[in-house]
Amino acid sequence: MSNVDVQDLSTIDLAEPSVWDDGPPYELFARMQREDPVHFSPQRVAPDEGGFWSITRFDDVRAVSRDHRTFSSELRGILNVDDIGVPLDVQRLQLISMDPPRHDRLKALVIKAFTPQRVAEHEDAVKQIIGGVLDQVADRDRFDLVADVARPIPARVIGSFLGTPPEDDDQLVQWTNVFTAFEDPEIREQWTDTAAVFTEIIEYVNKQIALRRDTPGGDLVTAMMNAEVDGEKLNEFELATFFILLMSAGNDSTRATYSATMLELLRNREQFDQLRENPDLIEAAVEEGLRCFPAFAFMARAATQDVELHGKQIKQGDRLLLWYLASNRDEAAFENPHKFDITRPGLADKHQAFGGRGKHFCLGANLARMELKLWIAQTLERFPDLTLDGEPNRVRALFLNQYNSIPVRRGS
Ligand code: HEM
Repeated sequence: MSNVDVQDLSTIDLAEPSVWDDGPPYELFARMQREDPVHFSPQRVAPDEGGFWSITRFDDVRAVSRDHRTFSSELRGILNVDDIGVPLDVQRLQLISMDPPRHDRLKALVIKAFTPQRVAEHEDAVKQIIGGVLDQVADRDRFDLVADVARPIPARVIGSFLGTPPEDDDQLVQWTNVFTAFEDPEIREQWTDTAAVFTEIIEYVNKQIALRRDTPGGDLVTAMMNAEVDGEKLNEFELATFFILLMSAGNDSTRATYSATMLELLRNREQFDQLRENPDLIEAAVEEGLRCFPAFAFMARAATQDVELHGKQIKQGDRLLLWYLASNRDEAAFENPHKFDITRPGLADKHQAFGGRGKHFCLGANLARMELKLWIAQTLERFPDLTLDGEPNRVRALFLNQYNSIPVRRGS
């Protein structure tokens, strides 16, 4: 757990990078849950915007997520603590930053492609993708669990859903990083013009659409092009932005959960071996990984009207962050919450890694669960002697609970 030595919580700005020097500030979150469950941080980057409220308790994250009329995803987007980075009008083109009724219309269209049955149809393909990537590191004594294993797999899984060719995976991952990791100094330096990146992606997707007009495939892009709700089809713009959302939501998230769960297992040899010897525990291990290491640290909402929460006056337009990092470790919801325990019973429908169970509940949860189970199980089976080989390195972006690098080696 990271330690931030503070007497007075009101002085804490959660967007201040030094608060995150030792990783997520879990002790601080626990104090906020007890003493200041609706905590205000003044705005660091753009002071005129008036700061943001942090919601840290499990029950509050759920209540705010479910009340989309009072707490909008569209008003100020869901990504950032401030209004820099991806422009709001671009964010609002994506399902995740839409309010009903627009949101519901689009979600009804796409949800059919992600039912457990439809996802199960891809199981063999996903197994092969994982096997192929693990083959590539099988002969190496040392490799990086993030760069060499975690990065290529989700990109190819989503690519195979969408029907894009493997040679485009790297480019697509790079583009989507711009949307979710904009705070990371390296990414910000590399990509100063997010609008230009967006235009490039739109052009790419339009080409994919044109290809399928000529030769329709059995992939998700073709299905989306032809899908209808109440006799209406998605327009080209909606298709393109949905594509971006799938690429970014599906890539970062599974990569992050795999990496963090594997790192924890490497640091907890007993549980690593226990899981290897009892493959039936894989489902519980994945849920515990999701709970302890939610890929997205938070999602934002904005108040559509003045509202009071735990005695705090939230004004119309104020931004709230729903901290899954905190709520998934709320001791009121989980016993011994900081302990990673693959035998923790009955988690599947409790943690909030996929959101607080409102209208925006993760579209890809079935796919992510299937992918993570196969992926972690295969890694343990093929590399029973995997060992940590140096210090892991975290992504410096508030929104992403993610690693850049986890060096590993074979043998003790
Ligand atoms: C471990 C993996 C994943 C995690 C932790 C995760 C987490 C989340 C979270 C927290 C939300 C927002 C919930 C809210 O605002 O209430 C979300 C929404 C979404 N996720 Fe995921 N996700 C994962 C995997 C995926 C995958 C693989 C896909 C795509 C194939 C995907 C597609 C989406 C989409 C499209 C939305 C927007 C849904 C809506 O607005 O109705 N996610 N996800």
